[in-house]
Amino acid sequence: MGKQNDQEVLERIKVSILKAREKASLAGAHEPDPMRADAVQWPVQCTVGPGLEGAVACESKVGYVNGTKGWLLYRGYDIFDLCAHSNFEEVSYLLLHGQLPAREKYRAFQGKFRLFWHIPKTIRQITGLPLEEMTPMGALRLGTTIMRQNQTYRDEKAHDHETSALGTDEDSIAMESQPTGHEKAVYEFIKSHTPNPSLSTTDKNSSMEFDSCYHLIAGIPTLLAAIHRIRIGHMPIGPKADLSHSANFLYMLTGEIPDAVSERILDICLMLHADHGMNASTFASLVVASTLSDIYFSIGAGIGALNGPLHGGANQEVITMLRSIGGPEKVEEWFEKARAEKRKIPGFGHRVYKTYDPRALILEPLAEILSEKTDESRKLFATAKKLEGLVIRQWGEDKKIYPNVDFYSGLVYDSLGIPDTLFTPIFAVARMAGWTSRIMEYLERNRIFRPRAIYTGTFGEEWVPSEERK
Ligand code: ACO
Repeated sequence: MGKQNDQEVLERIKVSILKAREKASLAGAHEPDPMRADAVQWPVQCTVGPGLEGAVACESKVGYVNGTKGWLLYRGYDIFDLCAHSNFEEVSYLLLHGQLPAREKYRAFQGKFRLFWHIPKTIRQITGLPLEEMTPMGALRLGTTIMRQNQTYRDEKAHDHETSALGTDEDSIAMESQPTGHEKAVYEFIKSHTPNPSLSTTDKNSSMEFDSCYHLIAGIPTLLAAIHRIRIGHMPIGPKADLSHSANFLYMLTGEIPDAVSERILDICLMLHADHGMNASTFASLVVASTLSDIYFSIGAGIGALNGPLHGGANQEVITMLRSIGGPEKVEEWFEKARAEKRKIPGFGHRVYKTYDPRALILEPLAEILSEKTDESRKLFATAKKLEGLVIRQWGEDKKIYPNVDFYSGLVYDSLGIPDTLFTPIFAVARMAGWTSRIMEYLERNRIFRPRAIYTGTFGEEWVPSEERK
């Protein structure tokens, strides 16, 4: 697309998001507005179902999901407004620090945040690993552990501070010196001035810990791009200073500078996936954080939880399903069969949303815009639209089943040329902002998580020596 045309499409994107907001507010208008809870008086009473359904785990100001109104708010701001007007870096600041930054503050934040795009030592270490034998999610989890070394207040207590060449990303290894005439070659790694998160702090909630959050949010796209390239036999590409966060991510993945429309659409996807209440991966990361383990271990737990097919991963299934249907004219027959077999259709339904998932409303027009690029994407989008219509007609009113975020995100990523295997890892790239923000918030008034199980076993079993056991 040309520059002029790009501008028009960018405007179309903004208008489509604002229109989607109107649709969402109409859909939820008849539902009562929620009451605002100012201060929580603990202990609270709630009815708990299996899987802690309905349990209140903590209080939070980071984000809010209202499933009957179809609301998703970050720090009180509507997701539609953020996606229309903001960008992922600013949203990360908002989630972490609780406010939208004024211009100067944002500039200072961006300057620091972008230094953490550079994770050269981690990249060097993962390059030596058999990543092609791991899933991208497995490699991502491992990569965050490698990013961790000597980064946190925990390590501060555990070690004295000799720095090792392979220790951290705080000093980049942009160059190696030449061998200096010794019998065996001696390489020295030259330090640069990338900041070193948390090396001098013992305070778990200090600004240095926020550096660890920046390190994770900013560094993960670089890590994932490198993992992807190594897995397909290419050399990793480092970040490019004059690009935006999302353009950089696409550039590091593909080696090509993306057009403004692809850049903006990926940025909106990252904003949309940045936080979503007390979901399984967020809770998993909070549980680990509550033990006063550190933020890198906590994030590893989040990635592990997101890896499961009941959480991340449905978007990959959606694209496989849409391809297998074979075109809009075959949807009806396919749907009747799926219904008769009582199959759950990937990309529909949600535990919390009982109306349109606002994220799906934002993604649908983006998928449509991108689908205009090729006949194949046009066909997939038309198939999706037809299926959406049938599902809503069948189950919308009755069972409150509507498209969820995963229904259109796979289509969007596919049209951006992102391979299916990266759909869930990109979810993790975005969710890093929510995980780190909620961890930092929880640590302010930390209490280790310790629920109970209802024991349904026996009492008083008698010890039997092994030779007498049946
Ligand atoms: N297709 C067809 N029917 C469905 C679907 C679906 N996708 N989702 C729910 N239903 C039906 C169920 O069959 C059930 O019907 P019944 O009452 O007649 O038995 C009813 O709706 C309630 O379904 P539950 O599974 O109990 O709803 P729950 O809230 O537990 O599940 C879930 C939510 C897991 C998301 C479910 O809708 C599902 O499996 N969807 C498909 C997978 C998917 O898209 N996951 C991504 C979710 S978004 C995310 O995690 C980022």
